Amino acid sequence: MFVAILFFSGTGNTYYVAKTLQDSLQRLGHLCDLQAIEQLKDQPIDVSVYDVIGLGFPVYGSSVPSLVKDYIKLLQGKNKSAFCFVTQMMYSGDGAAYGGRLLKKQGFVVDVQMHFNMPNNITDVKFLQLFHRIPYDKIRLRVQRKVDFILSRILNKRPYKLGSNPISLILGLLQRVPYERYERVLLPGVVKVNQHDCIHCGLCISLCPVQNLISMNEVITDQGQCMTCYRCINHCPTSALTLVGKSKVERPYKGPTPTFDVSELKKHHLQ
Ligand SMILES: Cc1cc2nc3c(=O)[nH]c(=O)nc-3n(C[C@H](O)[C@H](O)[C@H](O)COP(=O)(O)O)c2cc1C
Repeated sequence: MFVAILFFSGTGNTYYVAKTLQDSLQRLGHLCDLQAIEQLKDQPIDVSVYDVIGLGFPVYGSSVPSLVKDYIKLLQGKNKSAFCFVTQMMYSGDGAAYGGRLLKKQGFVVDVQMHFNMPNNITDVKFLQLFHRIPYDKIRLRVQRKVDFILSRILNKRPYKLGSNPISLILGLLQRVPYERYERVLLPGVVKVNQHDCIHCGLCISLCPVQNLISMNEVITDQGQCMTCYRCINHCPTSALTLVGKSKVERPYKGPTPTFDVSELKKHHLQ
């Protein structure tokens, strides 16, 4: 079987799941391409090359990050079999089912949907620090168990559709509707840079998946494109960045493994 996994990951959790899926498929003798959606920009992949397409993203307010939503619209499903997985800190109701419905609209046949609970990456809101740390071993075991489960369903063509029931839909909508409204009203220009702490290393500019940050006269400036993925906020070496109105980051989230390298998120290309 030849599988393509398209993913977006702000801070590494979704990438970790996507990579575990790829490694596990390859161990079973299948081919698997892993592709960061942020690298594809507006280039739709040719789905006819693959037997199955996987889509992975972090849940934002029970919704799909705008970059992923826009990319899905470019795809032509042509009845291709697909699966959708999301990562979340706690709960999204129908997060994966929502992604599945967007894929279905583009003509995919979505057989498998799964949620993975991972550490929280919102680190400038104090209360959410409670969901911040999960021991690495626990993450590894948890992800591998679920990956094995969904792969057995995908490879044996046995549907498993987490989140496709009325209760999950209602709980998802309760979060998604206000979140999408809030996103539209408040997102433009939300990254705040504390100029006193900024050392002008340029890392935030190079890491941003949507080229939202630029340097103007040695001042990092927000271009109004932020999708609140928290990559720059968590990887700024001096914690100089936050979202407007939020507290300084004291315990940044550096990723799901002790050796996670954030530049990995931009590296993968289709073979
Ligand atoms: C803007 C934003 C909104 C989020 N909303 C939710 C949510 O509604 N439910 C949830 O359980 N986690 C939520 N999270 C947590 C992330 O989905 C979770 O940490 C995810 O695994 C991050 O994946 P990544 O490292 O691939 O970016 C949110 C995170 C961000 C940045």
